[in-house]
Amino acid sequence: MWSDRQVAMLRAIGVRLWQPPVAKAPAEEAVEVTPAPVVEVAPPAPVTPPLRPEPRPAARPSQASPPPPPAVVELGAVSGLDWQPLREAVAGCTACALSQSRTQTVFGVGHPQAHWMIVGEAPGEQEDLRGEPFVGPAGQLLDAMLRALSMSREAEGEPAQRVYIANTLKCRPPRNRNPAPEELQRCEPFLVRQIELVKPRIILAMGRFAVQALLRSSEPIGKLRGRVHRYQGVPLVVTYHPAYLLRNLPDKARAWDDLCLAAAVAERAGAGLSPRA
Ligand code: URA
Repeated sequence: MWSDRQVAMLRAIGVRLWQPPVAKAPAEEAVEVTPAPVVEVAPPAPVTPPLRPEPRPAARPSQASPPPPPAVVELGAVSGLDWQPLREAVAGCTACALSQSRTQTVFGVGHPQAHWMIVGEAPGEQEDLRGEPFVGPAGQLLDAMLRALSMSREAEGEPAQRVYIANTLKCRPPRNRNPAPEELQRCEPFLVRQIELVKPRIILAMGRFAVQALLRSSEPIGKLRGRVHRYQGVPLVVTYHPAYLLRNLPDKARAWDDLCLAAAVAERAGAGLSPRA
């Protein structure tokens, strides 16, 4: 499953190797997933249709061409959309001021039926330039961790070994500042629809903004990780954001444990077992 190089890399950063739950692993490599407590969370508050413009502000005679009014994206407007129209809706979104500073929107990447859905925070500089999530240093760490599980973001291949990656925000906040609550709220319908389309077996929420968006919780990651939550019935595991891991190496081993937990939950879901079975 792992190349010698990957095994060496994982050992070097002090992480345990994941084994499918059916396989007998040596005691020191056992994955601690049974029984994992399951935490039910209330679904996000529903929002209603459709893409509608906000009231146009009174025209100021001194401005020759004022920017177009922001359109509020509501869940009903995107709820029936398939991938391509959803992608187009994101590309044309002007629901918040981030649309004026972005280079381009960053929709998402991966296999459309991936068993794993990974939710991050917002595009950074490189993502804004390339139009793909997690392509900077944090993304390279994420890809390395996924590779160690024989997983990848490729759009083709076996869905069990593929991930779909999306962010809570589809546009880069200027100077990589934190997402604002209103931006998160206005962008949320797109993420909700992406999750509906992928129908993942496991969601990995990375970092506090993904957690806030999906679990409506502001508890620290350290308190939420290590157990299985649920988002709209889908098992959800919380872990640290890879950008945080780049600055806090000791938590890498915990993040690896979280990925192992996610892998075990996805495996169990494939076998028709509940996360705590
Ligand atoms: N951090 C994120 O949360 N998402 C990205 O796409 C890049 C960095």
